[in-house]
Amino acid sequence: MANVVVVGAQWGDEGKGKIVDWLSERADVIARFQGGHNAGHTLVIDGETYKLNALPSGVVRGGKLSVIGNGVVLDPWHLVNEIASIREQGVDISPETLMIAENTPLILPIHGELDRAREEAASKGTKIGTTGRGIGPAYEDKVGRRSIRVADLSDDATLEARVDRALQHHDPLRRGLGIDPVDRDALIAKLKEIAPQILPYAAPVWKVLSEKRKSGQRILFEGAQGALLDIDFGTYPFVTSSNVIAGQAATGVGMGPGSVDYVLGIVKAYTTRVGEGPFPTELDDDDGLRLGTRGHEFGTVTGRKRRCGWFDAALVRQTCATSGVNGISLTKLDVLDGFETLKICVGYELDGKRLDYLPTAADQQARCVPVYEEMPGWSESTEGARSWAELPANAIKYVRRVEELIDCPVALLSTSPERDDTILVTDPFAD
Ligand code: GDP
Ligand code: IMO
Ligand code: MG
Repeated sequence: MANVVVVGAQWGDEGKGKIVDWLSERADVIARFQGGHNAGHTLVIDGETYKLNALPSGVVRGGKLSVIGNGVVLDPWHLVNEIASIREQGVDISPETLMIAENTPLILPIHGELDRAREEAASKGTKIGTTGRGIGPAYEDKVGRRSIRVADLSDDATLEARVDRALQHHDPLRRGLGIDPVDRDALIAKLKEIAPQILPYAAPVWKVLSEKRKSGQRILFEGAQGALLDIDFGTYPFVTSSNVIAGQAATGVGMGPGSVDYVLGIVKAYTTRVGEGPFPTELDDDDGLRLGTRGHEFGTVTGRKRRCGWFDAALVRQTCATSGVNGISLTKLDVLDGFETLKICVGYELDGKRLDYLPTAADQQARCVPVYEEMPGWSESTEGARSWAELPANAIKYVRRVEELIDCPVALLSTSPERDDTILVTDPFAD
């Protein structure tokens, strides 16, 4: 049975949530494998909007098992609130439908404070534009071997020892930033208070998934962020603090590399980015404004305006390679309706030479000038199209050119925020 990984192939907000929700009909288990509540995934089902941060997008469908894997960093207070608000929308969430890996590191309030304090203290050019949710500091504690993990919530003595170990690191750091030392007893009390609301969902996820795989169940791995925000392959240091690329799916839940059969890259028909960092095709003209307005490009988590630009085929070809993408889902094609001319970046000029990828050195990235190809737009509407036959000829030409340039086929096409406004070309779950 096929298992599918969904990853963002640009800088996030490509429409992963919508596609994961759509594909979840074909899956038994939906598993998050990295990131945290820096993610903002919006689903629209029969006019009702659901906004998810930490919960896998499969929860809304019902009857599926949703999993938060060990590769995630989890804010337990946020999760409890998110569960409550999604339940208010009529979604059933219980330990039968949601499972959290016992070895998942927690995001504590001190991580968010540190994240925000560093951003405030950053000089011009060094600010990352994080979501301020403590993602970076929580991952630092994980690799620094001083995290408090979900399993630690089950024993008071262990929990207190873990907190003491973490504070040995955090108190001197806070002093340097002019923040008061942590109130140890208050933090421990807060953790003890939340523990009974988290522990019922805790499970050995690696074991459960191994058994499910053996019994032929299908797993849909849900990525957050996008490959250009990957800690290794993104536009470092303007990235998030986890591996975002598809290889992380197995590590992030405790499965082998052979557990992934198909990688679906989610690709927006143009480009957006929230936060700081290089963006070769960024537009600060009327076309950029039009993309932002038509695409409602405002961040789900922070409400920030997303930066907008033309489609960058060189970058997507690169992320399709680093994630081993088998097929893409092209989203928000409808946002391009009505443009007279569309531009696609096919490579860069750097110091008089032509490049077909974005170099790693920051100074070179900054000097890369996009090389564009122009295509005629279309005046007809593609919004809500559910078959190829409904697409204007120039829209089909644009899709075909994208496929050629990124060297990867289109498996799905999305034409509105609504779940069912989706065109299936190749089923990623088909064996
Ligand atoms: P994610 O982080 O990758 O899940 O993406 P977000 O949910 O943050 O942002 C994508 C936005 O575009 C959401 O508001 C979706 O409802 C919306 N969306 C998804 N697919 C389409 C599409 O094909 N057309 C349009 N117009 N909007 C879409
Ligand atoms: P989804 O899953 C877009 C960006 C932030 C910032 C950088 C680091 O909705 O696609 P962090 O808080 O992670 O330390 O911030 O990463 N970022 C995202 N941008 N979509 C996301 O998630 C993002 N998650 C983080 O804006 O530039
Ligand atoms: Mg998003």
